[in-house]
Amino acid sequence: MTIGFILNGEDVAIRVDANIRLIDILRRDFSLMGAKAGCLCGRCGACSIIFNGEVVKSCLIPAFRVHGSEVITIEGFPQISQNNEYEDIITGFSQAGVETCGYCETGKILAVEMLLSKTPRPSRKEILLGFQGLKCRCTDPEALINAVSATADIRQRRLYGRFA
Ligand code: FES
Ligand code: FES
Repeated sequence: MTIGFILNGEDVAIRVDANIRLIDILRRDFSLMGAKAGCLCGRCGACSIIFNGEVVKSCLIPAFRVHGSEVITIEGFPQISQNNEYEDIITGFSQAGVETCGYCETGKILAVEMLLSKTPRPSRKEILLGFQGLKCRCTDPEALINAVSATADIRQRRLYGRFA
């Protein structure tokens, strides 16, 4: 089948097997390696992408669902956000001392962005809920809450010159 979709802001079309998953299309056909092939069964979040405005696990999206969609990968996110949103997150994580690694970075960054795009000042509960689909045993949940809160503060200052 041929599918057409918007990938990181550009119209693309490609011929694929109907059963292939989006993560394979991204990695194999577009050489976008930011979505990692982790568990490949929806449990780890290493393959996270933004799909029609929501963070989803690309290993769970079959090709037929990709047709007509908008996909943003971690490679496209800094460009599409013109770096401001991306920089907010990197700075917030750094201030809170939260590490990322090749396995979890994509999921963490996209999860923060989705959380803050819906709730500028998320509560502790909302932050933990926003990360529940991501597996990282090396980050203390308190540190993660601090990182998201720091990012929210940075963003509010950038946008409004004050804390909201
Ligand atoms: S690789 Fe998709 S959730 Fe783990
Ligand atoms: S820091 Fe990457 S999995 Fe924990």
